[in-house]
Amino acid sequence: MNKFNIKEVKARQVFDSRSVPTVEVEVVLECGVYGRGTVPSGASTGKFEALELRDNDMKKLNGKSVYKAIENIKQIIAPAIIGMDATNQVAVDRKLIELDGSENKSNLGANSILAVSMAVAWAGANANKIPLYRHLGGANAKVLPIPMIQIIGGGAHANNTTDFQDYLVVPVGSKSFSEGYEMVVNVYNATKKIFSKYKKPLATADEGGFWPTKFNTNEEGLKLLLEGIEESGYEPGKDIAIALDIASSEFYEEDGMYRLSLENRNMNRIEYVDYLCQLIERYPIVSIEDAMAETDWEGSKLLTEKVGSKIQLVGDDLFTTNISRIQKGVKIGVNNSVLIKMNQIGTITETLDAIDFTKNAGYLPVVSARSGETEDTTIVHLAIATNAGQLKVGSVARSERTAKWNEVIRIEEDLQDNGVYDGGNIFKRIIK
Ligand code: PGA
Ligand code: ZN
Repeated sequence: MNKFNIKEVKARQVFDSRSVPTVEVEVVLECGVYGRGTVPSGASTGKFEALELRDNDMKKLNGKSVYKAIENIKQIIAPAIIGMDATNQVAVDRKLIELDGSENKSNLGANSILAVSMAVAWAGANANKIPLYRHLGGANAKVLPIPMIQIIGGGAHANNTTDFQDYLVVPVGSKSFSEGYEMVVNVYNATKKIFSKYKKPLATADEGGFWPTKFNTNEEGLKLLLEGIEESGYEPGKDIAIALDIASSEFYEEDGMYRLSLENRNMNRIEYVDYLCQLIERYPIVSIEDAMAETDWEGSKLLTEKVGSKIQLVGDDLFTTNISRIQKGVKIGVNNSVLIKMNQIGTITETLDAIDFTKNAGYLPVVSARSGETEDTTIVHLAIATNAGQLKVGSVARSERTAKWNEVIRIEEDLQDNGVYDGGNIFKRIIK
């Protein structure tokens, strides 16, 4: 018997950083080694994501409990994968996909499938006594990502106090991951002072960034952030650039209008693209995610034609880590970057495939956490395994966020001089 074969699969309901239930799995091998995976979960969930199975019993945890998903693991998945070699991720993931049999993991739930896939990956790495990034990425896994970090968190992560979801920074002038991270921590603290200066209450939103109370416009977040960067002594654009995740599907209406409730302003796609272009002119913005809505391919194309050679345009809800959607975007020339979230697609190998596809198309992958996270650090290893180059995890506060950033710091140390950090140069691959 192979000592790396799966002997036992344990599944349980645990809770994420927003106190929402989620699925956790432990896979135990014949040799006694085990691996654990805890799945993340979103709030501004894209309509084309793989299905997250919840019990929908409103009498229990607001309908969010995941006991059905746990049962699927125990009754259906476990018997099918016990005896399989945990170091063979492709074989296990294929089995999971086949067991589900649907397009969007709607039979067993992407949360049950992904928890198992993640746990198997960790068990495989632990069995081989190597870090997960090495297990998934092999000999050439070496690129430390530039961090994209939230300073102000609005939208669905702060009770829709702003229409825009994330106001983030990217330390484009940094020479190493840890230097870049320190720079962002300085900006976070300086922005806190700016909030106090304008008598804005200080509270944190779901991903640890500041909760935007009493904002009059969405642009106000950009102004405060710019002041924060200046207050911390960095040169905006050169040392620290701004990024946005607008998550615009949340305020797009099917009549083709973008409706900014905060400003009581309605724009059609042409006016809205114009408005975004003005913001890009006025602020040192290096990246915008989900600028346009998940169904508005035409608007995405228009924006890409206008600014796609100047800044990074990331598709999150638009692409949902799904190769067929990314392929459509590449074909029609929409965006130049893809947000990568494991639970949008449902297995580790499909996530690896999406990253490969993105890179081969000349687009930049940005590996990302969700608004609901735990202490799990799988995405950090995934980013480094694939030399993806960019990582987005929310802010520098709250332990589910620092669990990830601190793991990058540890891996940076582990790689020593063999690690590669491109910093802001990564954007030169898409910006002309
Ligand atoms: P979500 O937010 O996890 O709530 O979807 C993160 C993002 O939009 O990138
Ligand atoms: Zn997003």
